[in-house]
Amino acid sequence: MKPVLVRSVAELRKITGEWRRKDEKSAVVPTMGALHEGHLTLVREGFRRADRVVATIFVNPKQFAANEDFGRYPRDEDSDVAMLASEKVNAVFIPSPAEMYGPHFATTVSLAGPAKAGLEDKYRPQFFDGVTTVVAKLFLQTGADFAMFGEKDYQQLMTVTAMARDLDIPITVIGVPTVREEDGLAKSSRNRYLSKHERSQAVAIYKTLTQAAEKIRNGTDHQVATTAAVRSLTTLGFKVDYVTARNAETLAVPKTASEPLRLIAAAWIGKTRLIDNIAV
Ligand code: PAF
Repeated sequence: MKPVLVRSVAELRKITGEWRRKDEKSAVVPTMGALHEGHLTLVREGFRRADRVVATIFVNPKQFAANEDFGRYPRDEDSDVAMLASEKVNAVFIPSPAEMYGPHFATTVSLAGPAKAGLEDKYRPQFFDGVTTVVAKLFLQTGADFAMFGEKDYQQLMTVTAMARDLDIPITVIGVPTVREEDGLAKSSRNRYLSKHERSQAVAIYKTLTQAAEKIRNGTDHQVATTAAVRSLTTLGFKVDYVTARNAETLAVPKTASEPLRLIAAAWIGKTRLIDNIAV
């Protein structure tokens, strides 16, 4: 069955309100479209927890800086909706920028903590205020019981989890493991920017993280391992923004050898910026 396409908040509230009245649990899968297997995994995980799944497609202007790829971010509503239909998603919310941000829109949801860990926030200072503002709206607009986020955007996952906790939004944020291509490259809407040669190089980020994690598990200091990872990626032609080990929950720089660690990386290959992370 085709999902209901919803363009307004009022219409969305009507649909999700009916689900609630029937005591049906719902999960929201927030996306910016350009869907791939990773998003469909979020949908499937949503259905494992809830009776209904609503996906949202909105390329959120507030999370892009002027020099970023907002204009060229891939948009293909028909193909996205067809993919969501094949997963039997119940509703797809596709608001316009004007529906999301009315003429007098004046609110920003802004977090410290994981949103200011010196990772993505350092290189994309506007990013998390844009993400938390739109995600808070999506949580409140859908009234969903669960929200599905990929672990690939690890800092985003930690940030929206903290936001829901801090603002007492009654939703459970679920992190879903990263879906990878056969060679290990994390699936991403931005992979479609890569040339054939760049695509063959791109997997080095995952391989380098895997090697660094293994070194840390075998007793190498995390800073030594991540410095070597930066060197190795740079030698391969990447422009590295960061490769770092952080506390897996707070994203703070680890202080003890016993903390749970997450290795997190961002690097450019040509004109494309890729991010990835793995547990240590
Ligand atoms: O991860 C994304 O695609 C976006 O940051 C999100 C969560 C849909 C907010 O615009």
